[in-house]
Amino acid sequence: MCGIVGYIGKRKAYPILIKGLHRLEYRGYDSAGVALINPQGQLNVYKAKGKVAELETFCADKDIDGTIGIAHTRWATHGEPNTQNAHPHYSESERLAIIHNGIIENYAVLKAGLMQEGYTFKSDTDTEVLVQLIEYTQVNRHVDLKTAVQLALQQVIGAYAIVVLDKDNPDTLIAARKGSPLVVGIGEDEYFLASDATPIVEYTDKVIYIEDEEVVSLKLRVESLELKEVGELKVESSIDITTINNVQKTPEIKRLELSLSQLEKGGYPHFMLKEIFEQPRTLADSMRGRVNVRQDNIALSGFIDNKERFLNAKRIIITACGTSWHAGLIAMYAIEEFAQIPVEVEYSSEFRYRKPVINKDDVVIAISQSGETADTLAAIQLAKQKGAFIFSICNVVGASIPRVSDSGCYTHVGPEIGVASTKAFTAQVTALTMLALCIGREKGTMSEEQYLSVVRELGQIPQKIERVLEQNKRIQDFAKTFTYAQNFIYLGRGYNYPVAMEGALKLKEISYIHAEGYPAAEMKHGPIALISQEMPVVVVAPRCGTYEKVVSNIQEIKARKGRVIAVVTEGDELVRKIADYVIEVPETEECLTPLLTVIPLQLMAYHIAVVKGCDVDQPRNLAKSVTVE
Ligand code: AGP
Repeated sequence: MCGIVGYIGKRKAYPILIKGLHRLEYRGYDSAGVALINPQGQLNVYKAKGKVAELETFCADKDIDGTIGIAHTRWATHGEPNTQNAHPHYSESERLAIIHNGIIENYAVLKAGLMQEGYTFKSDTDTEVLVQLIEYTQVNRHVDLKTAVQLALQQVIGAYAIVVLDKDNPDTLIAARKGSPLVVGIGEDEYFLASDATPIVEYTDKVIYIEDEEVVSLKLRVESLELKEVGELKVESSIDITTINNVQKTPEIKRLELSLSQLEKGGYPHFMLKEIFEQPRTLADSMRGRVNVRQDNIALSGFIDNKERFLNAKRIIITACGTSWHAGLIAMYAIEEFAQIPVEVEYSSEFRYRKPVINKDDVVIAISQSGETADTLAAIQLAKQKGAFIFSICNVVGASIPRVSDSGCYTHVGPEIGVASTKAFTAQVTALTMLALCIGREKGTMSEEQYLSVVRELGQIPQKIERVLEQNKRIQDFAKTFTYAQNFIYLGRGYNYPVAMEGALKLKEISYIHAEGYPAAEMKHGPIALISQEMPVVVVAPRCGTYEKVVSNIQEIKARKGRVIAVVTEGDELVRKIADYVIEVPETEECLTPLLTVIPLQLMAYHIAVVKGCDVDQPRNLAKSVTVE
């Protein structure tokens, strides 16, 4: 939930570190800090509450010289967001500095032991305990820094991605991870460390994904020589990776698929709007090589390589959080309709703790955009221990969840920077629909005619989304009239019940307006008591499935003077006569309607939030990836 960056090399560290923090600010932004070793061997630590821009202001008149440093942008887990709890944290002697993403669950026990040894603490954080433990270990066991980090981490229970700076060793960065992501970037005479590749991609495409319980030591010494050509540098550098138990590992260098342009806003005011408008292309990208409309076929390698596991599954358990959970709920309808396998959709945070019954012939599908959501990672680790087959749908190559899974399917929609998930959601639904079609066809539980009809329609979806996006200005205009609302209700049935929940989540997480999503039929079991002119009701009512029932629900709301915004199929004159506002989407297969009906809800939430002056890309209290419980 925090962002960490490290640099050692031939260039000034500060500008690279600050730019890296800006790229990682989506992971958390309640405080930030930087630590640098200057050419005189001084270790300078600067920290500020608030966003990275506050840190930059604070550093404007400070000594920010040095070619080695670490930096951190925080989402508080232990200790409130303030300067003393911001990272980096000094050790007692102020010789070491550390940054950390994760949670040390046994920090209280470790802290008590260190206090008995006379250690004092300036912050309320678990991270400061860790750096004190490292220093205590180094001093008392008379070992080098890397060994001290290994030994200290052997005592730690919890999740961490850390980088440690030692002012007595200004040519070395020591880093380690368990349960939180960490990537090494390998440049020309320089090394980078970061929570993900976004701070690295503009400098190099050579990366190493650090595995759990690995410790990496980056050494780089730059010596300028008296040569005829002044300024030629001699650089000695090395990368060493071991486990925390000092087992030597061979670094596996990979090539990044990210491009810098993917990281920029591309002229849009917010990443979220850019990502909403990217969906026609990103869905086409996520289907490329998988949906072959000419051959009327879908090829999902993760399914093909594990066909028997799916065909013999007695049950499919889907585990996810938030928007990804909504995608899982849609998948339940598709898998049960096409493959006739019972599906349970679980909130990961509940699933991991309720002592679930998990059998060896269960297939567990984990859905996660970031691939780092702690509860979802823990849920599949539990299921894996019980022998279930783990299949993950993820958007970040090399993230923790796909690395723990037996197989999976990447959504390939590029980095999703906006905290509110949009393009990842539609890609998740697409991937899950493709999976349901593959299983159903292979099992013979769906007709060839239905299979072909859905596959052909999948190929039409990107341009049909384009047609919905053409209504952006109209949606923006009417959305402004709802910024007064304190509450919204979203309703839908069948495949569009989860869409109603997703639309409600979009609105509440970026505009801070309370909103709830319900199965439309549930209205009469309580919520209808809420209907009033002050509470807009959004009804997702495409002309398919139980459409007539949804129309009745709209009439029940109108009879009680409710205001209805309806998402309908193009040409629907019936609902147009009774609803207050209508947004049309093209006709498509019922199982694919969520890919179209969700678009107006994404746009509506976005425009309401913008009019309300909310921080759309970095909503308050939120972070893009919830890597702590
Ligand atoms: C969605 O807009 C939210 N940002 C949040 O609910 C998110 O979907 C959830 O935290 C799960 O994240 P994941 O997909 O990365 O696991």
